[in-house]
Amino acid sequence: MKIFIDTAKLDEIKKANSWGIVDGVTTNPSLIKKAMDSLKKKVSMREYIEEICREVKGPVSLEVKGQKAEEMIHEAKMLYNKFNHVNNNVVIKIPINTAMTEKDENYEGIKAIKALKKEGIPTNATLIMTPNQALLAAKAGAAYVSPFLGRIDDYIRVKMGLKPGEDFSKESYFDESLLEKIRHEKIKRLITEELNKNIGEIYRNEKFPMLSEEFKSGVDVLRKIKRIFENYQFKTEIIAASIRNARQVMEVAETGVEIATIPFNIIEEMVKHYKTMEGMRNFTKDVIPEYEALFRE
Ligand code: E4P
Repeated sequence: MKIFIDTAKLDEIKKANSWGIVDGVTTNPSLIKKAMDSLKKKVSMREYIEEICREVKGPVSLEVKGQKAEEMIHEAKMLYNKFNHVNNNVVIKIPINTAMTEKDENYEGIKAIKALKKEGIPTNATLIMTPNQALLAAKAGAAYVSPFLGRIDDYIRVKMGLKPGEDFSKESYFDESLLEKIRHEKIKRLITEELNKNIGEIYRNEKFPMLSEEFKSGVDVLRKIKRIFENYQFKTEIIAASIRNARQVMEVAETGVEIATIPFNIIEEMVKHYKTMEGMRNFTKDVIPEYEALFRE
C-alpha cells in the first residue's frame, strides 16, 4: 500500500518524507488554510506549493476552487501549468459533485474530469461518499478517487442518533461490528414493538430511516468501490482518505487498497507501541560489556 501524507504543512511533509515512507501528498483548501495559519510569517503561496512539489517524488494533489465545469477546467490548467514543471507530479483534485444546494447542477465535476482526461491532466475525484460516485468518476477517466472514510463514518453515526463531541470525537475509532450489532438489536426491538401497529411504517422506513443504512462504514464503502473497480478492470486507483486513527489504517490496508492518505499525527501513531518501547529499554539495559566491545573500532 502506498502512503500519501494528508497535509499541506511543509514541516510535516519534510519530516515524514525523511522517514522514507511517503509516496505522495494530498492537499485541499482547508489543509492549505491550516498550513498557512500555522506559519509565523506570510509566505508566497506559489513558492510554498513549489516546495511541496519538489520535496516529494510521488503525486501531489492540488484542488480547484470553482463549481462550474468550465471554471474548474480553467483552474486545473492553471495549477497544472504553474506547478507540474517543478517535479512532474501534479494531480488535480476535482470534487465529484460541486452542488451545494438541491438546485445546483450535479454533473459539473464529472464533466471537468472527462475534459481534463482528454487534455492529459490527471485528476483525483474528491469528496467521494458512495461507490456510485466512484464508479462515475472512473468512467469519466479520473486517475484517482478519494473516498472520505472518516466523514462517511461521522454521517452514519449521526444518522444512528450518536452525538458528535459527546458520543464520539474526530479521532474516535468507528467500530463497524459493534454498530452493526446495535443496529440489528434496534431493528429487532422496533419490529417486535411495531409489528402489530403499522408494519408499513417500518417497511417504508419513514419512522426509522437508520434501519436500512446503505453502508456499514467508510471502510465498507471502500471495499465496495474496490470490488466494483475490479469487476470492470478500471485503471483508476483508490486513495482511502479522511482517515481518523491508526486502527482504521489497518482496516484500510486489509482491503488491499492501492493508496491511503494519512495525516501526520496518525503516521506517527502507527509506529508506536508501549511494549516496543519497554522492549527497547530492556535490550539497552541488558547490553553486556563484551557485546558492547563488538561496536568499538
Ligand atoms: C484528502 O484527500 C482529503 O481531502 C482529506 O483526507 C479529508 O480529511 P478530513 O475529512 O479529515 O478533513
